[in-house]
Amino acid sequence: MSTDVLTVQSSPTDAANTHWVIQSQGTLQGKITIPGDKSISHRALMLGALAAGETTIKGLLLGEDPRSTANCFRAMGAQISELNTDHVQVQGIGLGQLQEPPEVLDAGNSGTTLRLMLGILASHPHRLFTVTGDASLRSRPMGRVVKPLQQMGAHIWGRQDNTLAPLAIRGQALQPIHYHSPIASAQVKSCLMFAGLMTTGQTIITEPALSRDHSERMFAAFGADVAVDSETCSVTVTGPAQLHGQAIIVPGDISSAAFWLVAAAIVPGSDVWIENVGVNPTRTGVLDVLQQMGAEMTLANQRLVAGEPVADIHIKYSQLRGTVIEGAVIPRLIDEIPILAVAALFAQGVTTIRDAKELRVKESDRLTAMATQLQKMGARISEQPDGLEIQGNASLQGAEVESFGDHRVGMSLAIAALNAKGITTLYQAQAAAISYPNFVATLKQLWQS
Ligand code: S3P
Repeated sequence: MSTDVLTVQSSPTDAANTHWVIQSQGTLQGKITIPGDKSISHRALMLGALAAGETTIKGLLLGEDPRSTANCFRAMGAQISELNTDHVQVQGIGLGQLQEPPEVLDAGNSGTTLRLMLGILASHPHRLFTVTGDASLRSRPMGRVVKPLQQMGAHIWGRQDNTLAPLAIRGQALQPIHYHSPIASAQVKSCLMFAGLMTTGQTIITEPALSRDHSERMFAAFGADVAVDSETCSVTVTGPAQLHGQAIIVPGDISSAAFWLVAAAIVPGSDVWIENVGVNPTRTGVLDVLQQMGAEMTLANQRLVAGEPVADIHIKYSQLRGTVIEGAVIPRLIDEIPILAVAALFAQGVTTIRDAKELRVKESDRLTAMATQLQKMGARISEQPDGLEIQGNASLQGAEVESFGDHRVGMSLAIAALNAKGITTLYQAQAAAISYPNFVATLKQLWQS
């Protein structure tokens, strides 16, 4: 039975802003599916646009971020069907054939769109491109991709010594390099992999720890020559490549599943099945940590769908215990730290999160955002330079909190509100549409009062 666990209200001062009013007293029960994986959706659109022939995509995420990617590549000549169903067709334009766009390319809020696209644009000779994004994206560091691209011969200009968007790119024939990335970042790795597609020779990227490998899997499916050495966390792309259109099936996004995994684990009486979740081992840190915390969770029907591991996940409420989250697992759960911080509040004992200073340069400073907003609800959570320290056994009170325009912060706070006494109002809640347009509908489907 659906209840008014959450009501959506428009901001009286700005119609584009909505807030959510959340009142708890219930449990989560039932079986759901979740939207398509955001990382895989971006890559399918980009590779489809660059490949020769048609790519069909089933299960594409219909969120704001993939829409930004689709719009950018349409402006450069790729034909991408309307994103009004999750079955999308892309008529590729052929590698090296992107047209100079007549307008500034707008990546919106999407770091993946901007960083991956930079590798593609920088390697398209004889064209000038200009790229920008929203206020959040314009403040995020682009030097991490601009510098290695410059080592390959790219010509890129931007504010603050070419490290901030808006950026201008004059495409060049690039040279392959071996790049030792100081950070484990799939966006950096994938940017350089895209740049390597049109070079002659081997572009090698070595990371300090393994980041998500969706690009490696999908590049190979489209026909690129990709070799992975997991011992040394290295990937080699040998160019020039020839890409051919593919039939892609996008699994459900484990980063979206994480909200329900944690909600079910912390709200007494809950029992939830989440079907068709992508469980690529480079993404399953959240499952490892929840298991370590004592969650009652099982994976069923494990299978491989279009080159990506997929499973159904069953989770029930159980008393969690505090843990330490640090080191090599961090890139495997980088986007799930806000919601894991919520899980930690209801665990027995202390949870410490370290080695996560990357969270300061996501869509918002997620360490500050989570600490300050959860404190408003009465949580004992302290911000560290590279993480959080969270006291468990919390008893939260509803409060007025804000998402900072960050989808994952907003949805994490909404889940915390399910276990708070009284009413929580979440401002700038519309940010959820970046990665999870039907979050509210799914909450209402699951909620039993
Ligand atoms: C992503 C990689 C991660 C992640 C982001 C999506 C991707 O970023 O946080 O949401 O699709 O490659 P970094 O690679 O910068 O850590």
